[in-house]
Amino acid sequence: MKKDKPDPNSVKGISRRNFLKGFGITTVGAAVFESGQATKNLKAAGLLNVSDSIPIEGAKMILYVNSKEYSVHIKPKETLAEVLREKLELTGTKTGCERGSCGACTVLIDDNPVNSCMFLAVDAVGKQITTIEGVASDENLHILQNEFIENDALQCGFCTPGMIMSSLAIIKKNPAPDDEYIRKNLSGNLCRCGTYPKVFQAVIKAAKG
Ligand code: FES
Ligand code: FES
Repeated sequence: MKKDKPDPNSVKGISRRNFLKGFGITTVGAAVFESGQATKNLKAAGLLNVSDSIPIEGAKMILYVNSKEYSVHIKPKETLAEVLREKLELTGTKTGCERGSCGACTVLIDDNPVNSCMFLAVDAVGKQITTIEGVASDENLHILQNEFIENDALQCGFCTPGMIMSSLAIIKKNPAPDDEYIRKNLSGNLCRCGTYPKVFQAVIKAAKG
């Protein structure tokens, strides 16, 4: 599990299925009294999230992804990973476990890494979302991407988008990370090919660069 991800939707030990089931109940409840005074009171008290106050059939919303504005229809139970991959066709974000355990789906929200399979898309409204597609600039790869290539830090590549997004968050927060810091902050990203030593090496070199 990622230790440092401020992901309010990611709950250790709770499967995505159960999580969404539970959420569905609250959403139905919220949708029932959407137009009533009760909703206004809850909102005023700060007890309703965006996800609690949209109709169960969803609504058109704006997402900011990789500095672009997308108008997209979002249902309250849809995860950010689903919306990115299936509605915005940003398939660089991978889904593996879909329960917050592998880190393959990592994206940045306001520069913080989150597991997008456990983060509701409606809760990303109004925030800056960065996916692997937004890391390179124009035709130039980001230094992290170059170092992953130079250091042979990938084999099948399935974990690589998530690894790079978590690594990007590391070097944004700490321009001179040591090995321990990198290991701790990449602990939520699993690689079935076992490329960890080369990933750590690539991140240290990218930070130096
Ligand atoms: S797919 Fe999201 S953490 Fe595994
Ligand atoms: S390179 Fe294959 S899962 Fe990491």
